Amino acid sequence: MLLDLLNPARILFGPGANDRIGTEIARLGKKPLIVTGRKSLVASGNLDRVASPLRQLGIKPVFFADVEPEPTVGKVDEVRQIARENRCDLIVGVGGGSVLDVAKAAAGLYGEDEPTRVYLYGREVTATGLPWLAIPTTAGSGSEVTENAVLTDPEEGKKGSIRNGFWMASTAIVDPIFTMSMPKKLTAITGFDALSHAIESYTSRWANPYSSSLSQAAAALIMQNLYTAFSTNKKEAREKMMLASLMAGMSLNVARSGAVHSLAHPLGQRYGLSHGLVCAVLLPSVMRYNLPLVDTRYADLAYAVNLSPRSTPPEEAAERLIFFVEKAVQKLEVPSRLSQLGVKEEDLAEIANLAHESASLSANPRRTQREDLLEILRGCW
Ligand SMILES: [Fe+2]
Repeated sequence: MLLDLLNPARILFGPGANDRIGTEIARLGKKPLIVTGRKSLVASGNLDRVASPLRQLGIKPVFFADVEPEPTVGKVDEVRQIARENRCDLIVGVGGGSVLDVAKAAAGLYGEDEPTRVYLYGREVTATGLPWLAIPTTAGSGSEVTENAVLTDPEEGKKGSIRNGFWMASTAIVDPIFTMSMPKKLTAITGFDALSHAIESYTSRWANPYSSSLSQAAAALIMQNLYTAFSTNKKEAREKMMLASLMAGMSLNVARSGAVHSLAHPLGQRYGLSHGLVCAVLLPSVMRYNLPLVDTRYADLAYAVNLSPRSTPPEEAAERLIFFVEKAVQKLEVPSRLSQLGVKEEDLAEIANLAHESASLSANPRRTQREDLLEILRGCW
């Protein structure tokens, strides 16, 4: 077995980890560029959690508060430009997966001259970038511990990843306090993104004992805590969801994802849909498609989270796992059909074609042709 394990140099996890923000930023740079989304950070008080320790240390950061969901390559260009103009020496991403991906790519491409879009199409990154610090405010993407940035290119209608082993965060500060203000809908859809990472990487062709221990534990934590976080906002459930998202991201970084993610990217790009929302709709159908090859893996997961006693036959335990995920979609008030998201039936064949070219598909446990992808899409349309 060959393993190539990439993790941030430091992960500070847990309630109170945010107290270390000032010292960590000061340790990594003198002039940070803080990258955030457009609005919620101020209302939630999360911006102040980052900015006030810096004020106390006399650090004057530059702010870029304009990252949209489903970020474009052009947005990364803007951040690179601002970092250069202001001679920043550190990029700090504070937000959900979109914000972290933009911060990561802008830091990684800081020393490059070409526009971001050429790297999305495979241009090699050779220049050294800036260090970056990840502060996730959702429990979903796991971007704080992955090497890739998911970006869209509106010109070509493409959504894909730039992947680089040198792009790991220098530090990830993962404090559940940042997720306490998440609205219910965001809790649900980011939670389904994390669950998709856990289940897809758990059943990936590239799974190994290292990734499986992380993904199995992450899936269990999500299945046991997502509904509580959604319905009651209890601190303990928020903390466990944050840990699960982190662990699922670490597993994803090694074992990759699968058909859910290969289909979610073109759907998200075409209709501007939230990534987690699309994952929630697709996950039960993809699990059912993969079932013949991974029934014992699903059964192991069902036993591990006490969905089924160990005496239950594996086929039955595996069914219970899929049933649990289907029910969770309903309980968390997420639409269960693509048609409810505005996806048009006549577009499904093209979505299947685009998904078939996705790199994620190579990790899916069951071989998947265009027709299979179309079948999956029709099944949940
Ligand atoms: Fe994802």
